[in-house]
Amino acid sequence: MTAKIAVLPGDGIGVEVVEQAVAILNKVDAKYGLKLEMEHALVGGCAYDEYKKPLPEATLKLAKEADAVLLGAVGGPKWEPLDYSVRPERALLGLRSELDLFANLRPAKVYPALVDASSLKREVVEGIDILVVRELVGGIYFGKPKGVEKLPDGAERGVNTLVYTTPEIERIARVAFDAARKRRKKVCSVDKANVLECTELWRRVVTNIHKNYLDVELSHMYVDNAAMQLVRAPKQFDVLLCDNMFGDILSDEAAMLTGSIGMLPSASLSAGKGMSETIHGSAPGIPGQDEANPSATSLSAAMVLEFTAAAGEKGRRAAREIERAVEKVLAQGYRTGDIHTPGMKLVGTKEMGRRVAEAIQ
Ligand code: IPM
Ligand code: MG
Repeated sequence: MTAKIAVLPGDGIGVEVVEQAVAILNKVDAKYGLKLEMEHALVGGCAYDEYKKPLPEATLKLAKEADAVLLGAVGGPKWEPLDYSVRPERALLGLRSELDLFANLRPAKVYPALVDASSLKREVVEGIDILVVRELVGGIYFGKPKGVEKLPDGAERGVNTLVYTTPEIERIARVAFDAARKRRKKVCSVDKANVLECTELWRRVVTNIHKNYLDVELSHMYVDNAAMQLVRAPKQFDVLLCDNMFGDILSDEAAMLTGSIGMLPSASLSAGKGMSETIHGSAPGIPGQDEANPSATSLSAAMVLEFTAAAGEKGRRAAREIERAVEKVLAQGYRTGDIHTPGMKLVGTKEMGRRVAEAIQ
């Protein structure tokens, strides 16, 4: 059996970090016999430059037919003046919704070797291990009506709609409870049920699904309080269940607690299929300078392997191997600029990737 991977490096540092992730995947492929078939395609701003579309049909077709997608990053200042409908970010939203990747898992874990890279005190962050489960194909990101219209008096009116149906909430709640069962068995569901009716429904549906998971502890928290608790006492959280927008915001906050957005993987999943997409973006300031940290993308590739049905048990073993290799290289003191602290060995994107690949024997 082979596993087909659509490789979509995208823009900016996406190109550099995906190159390293591909080399690492080739290494575990050789070791575990995963029979990976990787095919590249354009996505984001570079696809717009070539085809006037950030998500060309051929790229979408490749992604749909693949067993997994390895995405780098999209966007950059060059494409910011473009109309919303053809912005690079649209490609990301298009892939998510066309592949129905409704569950975005964003772990925020503090690596013992990196505690001092956080902007918060050591005692606050040491031991953080949070999983943000973010709903990814619904909510205010996709709700209609949306858009900006001209009013008769010359003013403009902008609209986005926050909308969720019961089944959409149920399926993401199940993902959160299932994930919690493999962890510390705690889910905190985030909403703004004191103000927004849609999230009041969210709270009710999550409470209902919880009846099938009574071994897991469920709590609810308003999003403003959650934002505060994340910096005040982050270790209280195990799984944070969020809608699309709250998850977008809180996952950046959770990531930064660990001091290293360049370390954190993210995978977007539907049944048996996944897409890796790091949360660090295309980092417009540093592409092409061999400065980006390839770890987040490599660890995302590992997460996707783990969830790719076509890669099976071997895929799960290969995923663990990639994680171990990254930890080993950190333990040896190698650091890219984003996580560098005094006394550590500063390396570039290529060397970091090569060392991780070499750690896989
Ligand atoms: C993320 C990003 C995206 C999002 C953008 C680039 C569309 O911020 O993956 O968190 O808002 O989902
Ligand atoms: Mg974001």
